Order: sequence, then C-alpha cells, then structure tokens
Amino acid sequence: MGKIAIVYWSGTGNTEAMANLVAEGAGGSADLFTPDQFSPDQAAGYSALAFGCPSMGAEQLEEAEFEPMFESVKPSLGGKTIGLFGSYGWGDGEWMRTWAADCEDAGCSLVCEPVIACGAPEGDAADACRELGKAVGLSPKKATLAAHVLRKLGAISQQGKRGNAFLYVQATAPDTAAATGGCILEKGDT
Ligand SMILES: Cc1cc2nc3c(=O)[nH]c(=O)nc-3n(C[C@H](O)[C@H](O)[C@H](O)COP(=O)(O)O)c2cc1C
Repeated sequence: MGKIAIVYWSGTGNTEAMANLVAEGAGGSADLFTPDQFSPDQAAGYSALAFGCPSMGAEQLEEAEFEPMFESVKPSLGGKTIGLFGSYGWGDGEWMRTWAADCEDAGCSLVCEPVIACGAPEGDAADACRELGKAVGLSPKKATLAAHVLRKLGAISQQGKRGNAFLYVQATAPDTAAATGGCILEKGDT
C-alpha cells in the first residue's frame, strides 16, 4: 500500500470528522493535513490522496485556504489515486458535483464517487467515509475500482454484495429520500 494523504478544511468540524473516518478506513496508513500544511512538493510524495472540503459560499469550495491549496496541487495529481469528500448543509451536493467535474477535466481520476454528508457524518455516511478511505488505500495493481454514479437511488443506503463487488451508497439528508453518491469497490485477487 502506498502512502495516503488526507487534506481537508473544516470550519465547524463536520468535514474533519469525515477526514478521521477516511483515515480509519485507510487502515491507519494516512497522513492528515490542513491546507496550510500542504503544498505541491508534498503532494509529489503521495500516490493516493483524499481531499475534503465542505460546501461554502454559494455551493463553492472554501476559497480562502482550501481552494488556493487545491488549485496549486491539482496539476500534480495526474496518475494518482484521488478521492473527494465533504459536508454540506442545505443544498443538494452541487458544490461536490462541480468539484468532481473540475477534477475530471483536469485529468484526475476519482477512485470512486465522492462522499458527501449532511452535517456530521453518522450511520451510512460514516460507513461511506470509511469505504472511501479503503478505496483510496487499495493498490491499483491489486484491486479494480469502478466508479459509478448512483444518484437518485431513493432511500437505499447499502446494496450489499454483487458478485465480488461491494456496492455502497451514501444517503444524504435524513429528511430526503435521495442518495447522491456511492461507489462500487471491486476487490482484486489480493
Ligand atoms: C459561509 C457558509 C456558506 C455555506 N454555504 C453552503 C451552501 O452553499 N450549500 C450547503 O449545502 N451548505 C452550505 N453551508 C453549510 C456547510 O456546508 C455545513 O454547515 C457543513 O456541515 C460545514 O462543514 P464543516 O463543519 O466541515 O465546516 C455553508 C456554511 C457556511 C458557514
């Protein structure tokens, strides 16, 4: 397993809690950073990185610290294993869709669908964070990871096993019957 960096910004602790769960899922092999602690030079030393930022502004990344850091490291993310996560309040996850599309446009391939949590990560959202950490931590040589968009899946939070693939779906706000993301983690022959 390569080294994993988890770089996050959190104003009130929700995305920080997600970052800790991602680290737990990565099996304790991750280094945690806040944006002021992370630079392109450091990014070069990691084969796998998870970035976390809540929805701020109007469906935007936090722009004082996180966004400048991310823009500076983005050119060096090609060919690496990347995962995204973040907390939101009242929106529908638009900031994360925009961010994920921006990453894909920049040539960064996401290891699985981003994980978003309404407020603090609990229950299925906490599980999805751990699964993101696991997915980011798996060696590409030993695992096949397929990203699937699983939006609008209703209240389903976990669909269990399908062949040798495990399907995870993260439900959003408890008062909505929508799920906005998930990933299929297909284990290799390890
Ligand atoms: C200035 C500000 C702007 C926000 N803008 C949005 C937004 O556009 N959409 C949304 O869903 N939540 C928005 N939120 C809510 C936060 O994303 C939410 O509280 C989140 O849980 C904060 O995560 P954190 O604890 O990691 O800082 C905003 C919060 C603040 C303080």
